[in-house]
Amino acid sequence: MSTSALTQVVILGASGDLTARKLVPALYAATCSGGFPGRLQLVGVARRPWTDETFRDHLGRAAPKIGLGSDAAWSEFLGTVAYVQTHLETVADYANLRQRLDALAGGDCNRVFYLAVKPELFLPSVQHLHQVGLLDQSAGFKRRVVVEKPFGYDLATAKTLNSELLGILGEDQLYRIDHYLGKETVQNLLVFRFRNAFFEPLWNRNHVENVQITVAETVGMEGGRGGYYDTSGAVRDILQNHLLQLVSLVAMEPPASLDPKSIRDEKVKVLKSLRPPTDAPDPTAIIVRGQFDGYRAEPGVAPDSQTETSIAVRAFIDNWRWGGVPFLLRTGKFLPKRFTSVRIQFRMPPITLFGSWAECHLRPNAITLRIQPNEGISIDFDVKRPGPGIMVEPAQLGFDYESRFKTHIPEAYQRLLQDVVSGDQSLFIRSDEVEESWRWSDQLRTAMLKTPLYNYPKNTWGPEAANNLWGECEGRWVTGA
Ligand code: BG6
Repeated sequence: MSTSALTQVVILGASGDLTARKLVPALYAATCSGGFPGRLQLVGVARRPWTDETFRDHLGRAAPKIGLGSDAAWSEFLGTVAYVQTHLETVADYANLRQRLDALAGGDCNRVFYLAVKPELFLPSVQHLHQVGLLDQSAGFKRRVVVEKPFGYDLATAKTLNSELLGILGEDQLYRIDHYLGKETVQNLLVFRFRNAFFEPLWNRNHVENVQITVAETVGMEGGRGGYYDTSGAVRDILQNHLLQLVSLVAMEPPASLDPKSIRDEKVKVLKSLRPPTDAPDPTAIIVRGQFDGYRAEPGVAPDSQTETSIAVRAFIDNWRWGGVPFLLRTGKFLPKRFTSVRIQFRMPPITLFGSWAECHLRPNAITLRIQPNEGISIDFDVKRPGPGIMVEPAQLGFDYESRFKTHIPEAYQRLLQDVVSGDQSLFIRSDEVEESWRWSDQLRTAMLKTPLYNYPKNTWGPEAANNLWGECEGRWVTGA
């Protein structure tokens, strides 16, 4: 896109929660920080019979205070926002949408269509945009489409959606979003691994005993999410996307370069190397699923629901770098603490020179990458306690983002929206990536059905049986970062 060009960001489903809570604040923050090439115009599209004014009032009330720019700047930003009432299922409405968009832009311009709609509307919306010519790039203006998760419901539906969308759009026009990839600390995984000389030589099966990745949440079914969640569950909602993205970034080989293709190629290889959970002779040894007490009484949830609200998995990546190293993955709702972290635990030295405890009592070296909150990195190691004899004590080296950079870490959506407008797909999911992650998640769900669904009380760490996924002396689940 030329730097002087106008880009219209057109949000379909603009009356929903995501628009006010995340997208509009992110667009505003990016505008304030000069993050967009050229000019930006935001247009909300939804079924409600709103005007520009009512839409602006709604955003003024519903969007969180961002703490960026002045009140006047925020009012000025809102003053430029437009709204077009559109029934997204009705193709006739899209002709009007096209006219309004052209009128607002004063002609043609670059356009980003953000599908903040329910998944059933992904394909019809794109088909209708196409039918009225809104996806046509022949005049030299860019057309990009951002698709929220869930992208498909399983491998079969993801493949169908991919092939139907790719019948209309080029892969380079399609931005499958996973907001975890917009988090600064997730992006830092690449810098940490491939810009520092001392970690990467240790980052393999010779030195790493296990890798633990946790996405722990304190929230439950707030905001009327029960209906959606009950058809999804922890595997589809978090593991298939956010958790597997973290796995692929932690485990991937160094990319040939930083171009999007090279990075995505390496991530896909990791997903392809994940051992199928259906191969496990005893699924209960690798999967523990749970449901929090009271889940079935949540609005929108079936009274006999078998949906998992927590999942713990002992996974393996069968490749040369990681063969035999367990990847312990855990996520759940209503856990006691909200945090996301990656912990790399190293093997013990070959012999125990210091101290005569049983190996289980010795603390192995570890690197913890705190993705959120308290974003940072810590390294656990041992030192000699001063004084006679040799007493070994744990010590920690730490790095903390906020105290180092004295700056607020931008919201994930800000970075991702900037990348869509400037056409950088590195932090978006390619079609084969999404399909490979569904392939493994489908196998996991098949294997999971052979395991019991345990109940767990709210504000606990999920079913105790998850502790059995650890081998003797191997370690245990982290409960904070
Ligand atoms: C979303 C899930 O994708 O991610 C939610 O649908 C979850 O269930 C959320 O709460 C977690 O995101 P974050 O950024 O708060 O860790």
